[in-house]
Amino acid sequence: MIDFLVAHFNLVRGLHILSVIAFMAGMLYLPRLFVYHTKATPGSEMDETFKVMERRLLRGIINPASIATAVFGLGLILADSAIRGWSFLAEPWMATKLVALVGLYGWHGFLSASRKKFERGENVRSEKFWRITNEIPFVLAIVIVISVTTKFLNH
Ligand code: HEM
Repeated sequence: MIDFLVAHFNLVRGLHILSVIAFMAGMLYLPRLFVYHTKATPGSEMDETFKVMERRLLRGIINPASIATAVFGLGLILADSAIRGWSFLAEPWMATKLVALVGLYGWHGFLSASRKKFERGENVRSEKFWRITNEIPFVLAIVIVISVTTKFLNH
């Protein structure tokens, strides 16, 4: 299994990046829907349309892509453990990535809980809140991508 992952490291890395693209696309789009959803009167046709769009985006794209990202990412961890030894998990670049991942997956959980609140007509957050927090996943993605691509080395 690990030999297979090592042999196909670049393929798994490509699939990991593709899953990340879908995951991030959804994570950046969902709060935009929330921005407009805050303006819809509960029970209106617009309110119902946003509920459907949010549910499909989360269940159809964000959740499966988050799982695929983690599955391919774990495949890369197993391959890297054979290539570099398990200690790579504690190297600054990987440790930074893991901390940012906790933030990203935590934010995913928060968005998921917020979608359920919108569905029940219980949203208490403002349009401004969603506009500002919309930047969170992108900031975390910058940290994650730059730490893996540079590994904090100068060459
Ligand atoms: C549970 C989630 C994740 C795990 C376990 C994971 C793990 C990994 C591992 C072990 C590598 C290989 C690093 C190397 O040896 O160079 C990698 C590559 C990469 N990861 Fe993740 N990752 C996860 C989520 C993410 C997310 C959310 C992003 C972006 C927002 C991301 C972006 C990347 C990129 C761009 C690479 C390729 C880096 C390169 O080729 O230089 N990963 N990931």
